[in-house]
Amino acid sequence: MIIDNLDKSKLPNHIAIIMDGNGRWAAKKGLSRTLGHNSGVESVQEIVEEVLNLNIPYLTLYAFSSDNWNRPPHEIGTLMDLLVESLKTELKKLIKNNIRLNTIGDISALPKLVQNEVKRAIDITKNNNKMVLTIALSYGAREELENVIKEIASEVKNNTISLENIDQSIINKHLYTRNLPDVDLLIRTSGEQRISNFLLWQIAYAELYFTDVLWPDFRKKDLYSALLNYQNRERRFGKTSEQINV
Ligand code: IPE
Ligand code: IPE
Ligand code: MG
Repeated sequence: MIIDNLDKSKLPNHIAIIMDGNGRWAAKKGLSRTLGHNSGVESVQEIVEEVLNLNIPYLTLYAFSSDNWNRPPHEIGTLMDLLVESLKTELKKLIKNNIRLNTIGDISALPKLVQNEVKRAIDITKNNNKMVLTIALSYGAREELENVIKEIASEVKNNTISLENIDQSIINKHLYTRNLPDVDLLIRTSGEQRISNFLLWQIAYAELYFTDVLWPDFRKKDLYSALLNYQNRERRFGKTSEQINV
């Protein structure tokens, strides 16, 4: 078993996943894209459970990008329905497992029904502290950075801060991820090797892991493979290998 080879003391603190390939998974099986998304939800359930079992405190999932609004209205509707349904059925599990739900992205762009369900789940789980599960919804990293720049510029204009005081910690405080640590491991499924406007600032030193497995097929064992691969890397943060291994 791969899990036996994992070093439990060297796990990432924050995993982010670009859950891609639902459509291709369905097409391969001659099914509708909707069924692909439905199966993708089962992978989400299994991965959340496993990340929790491994005591990894932060998991961030890319569920709907700002550019996904350009998909056919029918597919957008399906994804929104699935989101509402999942939030309703999974809430009990979030409570039971001490998971705090968090979102990043332009939540105000979502249909009111989705917004209400998201807000309710966030509120009910706000004091949970075993794991923070962040769902990226209507999220785009460039849009996020655009907002950060606007907010900071307006603070400079109002003399709340001075230009000289703008630094990385101020920028961090304006990001959607202000309460999250940097990403350690970024996983993308489905064979695509791109970031698709996800967490550009936050992945500066993340280890990137790409797998051909389509999201609905991505299960426990695939997560272990990603973690094992992560553990065999040396994170140097600009230093030399000798400096890291003193
Ligand atoms: C990921 O699967 C889910 C979302 C982007 C919402 P896709 O729907 O992108 O699946 P492919 O890439 O078409 O296979
Ligand atoms: C990225 O997947 C967004 C999510 C997984 C939610 P896409 O399928 O939208 O990305 P592209 O279009 O292939 O870059
Ligand atoms: Mg895709």
